[in-house]
Formats: sequence, structure tokens, C-alpha cells
Amino acid sequence: MNKTKINNSGLLAWVDERFPLSSLITNHLTKYYAPKNFNFWYFFGALALLTLILQLVTGLLLTMHYKPDAELAFASVEYIMRDVSFGWLIRYMHSTGASLFFVVVYMHMFRALIYGSYKNPRELLWLFGVAIFLCLMGEAFFGYLLPWGQMSYWGAQVIVNLFSTIPFIGPDLSEWLRGDYLVSDATLNRFFAFHVIALPIVLLGLVFFHLVALHEVGSNNPDGIDIKKNLDKKTGIPLDGIPFHPYYTVKDLIGVSTYLIIFALIVFYLPEMGGYFLEANNFIPANPLVTPAHIAPVWYFTPYYSILRAVPPILNSQFPGVAAMGLSVIIFAFLPWLDRSEVRSIRYKGILFKRWIALFVTSFIVLGYLGTEPSNVWGQFSSAIPFIGGVDKATIAARIFTVSYFAFFVLMPYYSKRDKTKPVPSRVKY
Ligand code: HEM
Repeated sequence: MNKTKINNSGLLAWVDERFPLSSLITNHLTKYYAPKNFNFWYFFGALALLTLILQLVTGLLLTMHYKPDAELAFASVEYIMRDVSFGWLIRYMHSTGASLFFVVVYMHMFRALIYGSYKNPRELLWLFGVAIFLCLMGEAFFGYLLPWGQMSYWGAQVIVNLFSTIPFIGPDLSEWLRGDYLVSDATLNRFFAFHVIALPIVLLGLVFFHLVALHEVGSNNPDGIDIKKNLDKKTGIPLDGIPFHPYYTVKDLIGVSTYLIIFALIVFYLPEMGGYFLEANNFIPANPLVTPAHIAPVWYFTPYYSILRAVPPILNSQFPGVAAMGLSVIIFAFLPWLDRSEVRSIRYKGILFKRWIALFVTSFIVLGYLGTEPSNVWGQFSSAIPFIGGVDKATIAARIFTVSYFAFFVLMPYYSKRDKTKPVPSRVKY
């Protein structure tokens, strides 16, 4: 044994007596057995973790120069972009990171959908995921007000006003959220507090619980097989499992490197992404007296925004649309109980599930697109047509895809039970 090693183990022994460092590394890395058939879709959990860290670090650096004051906020962002050393890089990394966070999380959720990762015994892991998703939406919404541009201001105005449609408590609730009768300095201050302190803490806590739940039940895999059912008789180690470290730490490096290359290309060459990541209107300072002609949220919110616009008001109240929008997000939480299929993975599910998930993805994308456009983007149906005459074509399309979006969930107990599934092999295959 060489000297350094003795020193290391001496220090390690000292630490281990006071903190379970070695057993944490063993239980959660070197002797944590993950299924050996992880594929492309299994990169996104690690990438979500990486993006979270990038957002925290760049966010911290931005906070050092940003001023949460309605008089100063816009100029302080411009100051960061022009005068702070590498300020432009930090800001573009943070704005690109926000959009890519949603790309990564949507891919991560889609993986769970196709491999049935939300099913027993991973319901709590999934529910923590849904809570993370809600928290992330809040984090993005609060952050978007901070540059105090036209879109920040009017976007916040529209969204906070949605709360005023809630029966009885609505108007008081939206005033309470804003801290004023309209979006103002008071609103900016509280959104700043939520964005930099409250939600990041909640997010970190939820991610911790998400990972604790994951390590309690173990990862699912593209075959949806329970690897804990096939253990080596002598060692008790899953026959289809491999230690997370070094196998998946090294494999994840491939995903991380590719992701960072794409990240850098966007930051350096396309930081605004044609208005999808940073909107042109947000380079104009907030002006409460001038409403932009077209107000749309950032792309990751547009499917839900489309659902909001698709549902017609009842008795002059917009509340049904607001409720449908809320439900379109919350409904993900019910998936573990809606899916009655005998099998987890799409590989062994039947044609019914495949068709429904294809329709769901199409609906999500079409609604997402429609939400970025004004509702009259395709013009109106001729007034001669009964029922829909004079109505915007895009609104009708949004209504149809809103129905198919919800049908995917609501009809799932029925079609997942009826679906003709294939027999699941007892061991994972490549
Ligand atoms: C900050 C956001 C998130 C982080 C950092 C994160 C992190 C992770 C990590 C590291 C894993 C294990 C690696 C993998 O399976 O890819 C994982 C698994 C999982 N996550 Fe997340 N996650 C996040 C958001 C979400 C969301 C929004 C959902 C669902 C609504 C979700 C649902 C799941 C599920 C079901 C698994 C188990 C997948 C399987 O074993 O097949 N996660 N997460």
C-alpha cells in the first residue's frame, strides 16, 4: 500500500465515522444496480440535473448585477449584456437553459409515457416528477417578468388576470398575487423573491425526493421488466443489472457532451432561436400604456395556452378555459391510475396504445404551434357554413386537438385494458 492511499483511507475512515460517505457512494453509485438496457431516452434525467445546476449557477451570477426595481430592471439587463464581463454569455446561458430545461423535461416525461415508468411501484416517483414540473413552470413564469420587457409585463398581466376568473375569490386573489391593482414594482419584487429563493429551494427539495424515491424502487427500463425478480442466487445481485458507476456515469458523459455542444451552438449562434427562446417584444422596455398586438407565452407554455383559448367562455366567464388549462397539466398526475395495461413498455403494448400516444403527441405539437400564433392565423370559416361559420379556423383546430389531448387521458382506462398486449420476456433483451 502506498503512502497516499494510507492517508486517503485514514481521512476517509475519519469522515466515515462521522458521515456515511463511503456507504453513500457504494449504495447509490458503485453497488447501485441499474438495468443494463438503458437507451437514448435514459439520458434525460441526468441532463435535467445538469441543466438545473447550470441554471442555479448562471442565475446566481445574474443576480449579482440585476436590479429588481421597475425603474432599473430593464436597464440592468442591458448593462449585463453590454458592460459586465461575459455578462452576455451568462444571460444567454440562463435564457437558453430555461428553454432547454423544458426540452429535456418533456423528453424525460415522454420516456416515462412510452415505457410506463409511472406504473406501480413508481407512482410516488412520478408524482414528485409532476410536482417538479409544476414548480418548474412557476419558476419560468416568475423569471420571465424580471427583464421587465413588453412581453414580460403583458404576459404576467394576462396570466395573473386569469386567476381573476375564478368564481368568488378570483379578483381578490389576482390583486393579492400582484400586490397591486396592476403589474407593478411590487409585483416585480415578489416575483424576484419567488424566482431566486422560494421556488429554487422547493425545486431542489423535490428533485432530492425524486431521486430518493428512484433509488428506493430502482429504475424502470425500455423493456419494462422488473430486474429485481431475477437475482443471482449467490450474490443476490440482479442478473440484468450493472453498477451505475462506472457504467452509466461514463455512458452519461456521451449524452452530456452532445448536449453541451448543442447548448453552446445555440448560445453562440442562435440565442433568440428566431423569437422562440427570447421574443423580439421583450427587447422593448415594459410600457403599461401600450399593449402589444399579439401576446403569446414562451413556446413551452403554448400547448396549455392554446387549450385556454380553445374553450369558449360560458355566461361571459373565461373560467372554463382557465380550468381546462389547469387540468391539462394536473391530469399527468393521474396517469398511474388511468393506465390499466398489464405491461409497462410500449414494446409490448398493442396498437391501441400506439395510436393514442401518436395522437397525443400530435395534439401536443399542434396545440403548441397554435399557441404561438394569433387565433385568426388561418382566417375564418365562411359565414355560410352552419355552426362554425365566422369562427377562426385555428380556434376550431385548437378545439379538436384539445379534445384529443384530453381523450388520451380520459379514455386510457378503457383502451389500455382492451389493448392486445404481447408477452413480456422474463429477462431484458437488447
Ligand atoms: C428538474 C427536473 C428533473 C430532474 C433533475 C430529474 C431527474 C431524474 C433522474 C436523474 C432520473 C434517473 C435517470 C433517468 O431515468 O433518466 C429520473 C427518473 C425519472 N423521472 Fe425525473 N427528473 C426531473 C423531472 C421529472 C418530471 C417532470 C417527471 C414527470 C412528470 C419525472 C419522472 C421521472 C420518472 C418516472 C423516472 C423513472 C424513469 C424510469 O426509471 O424509467 N422526472 N429523474
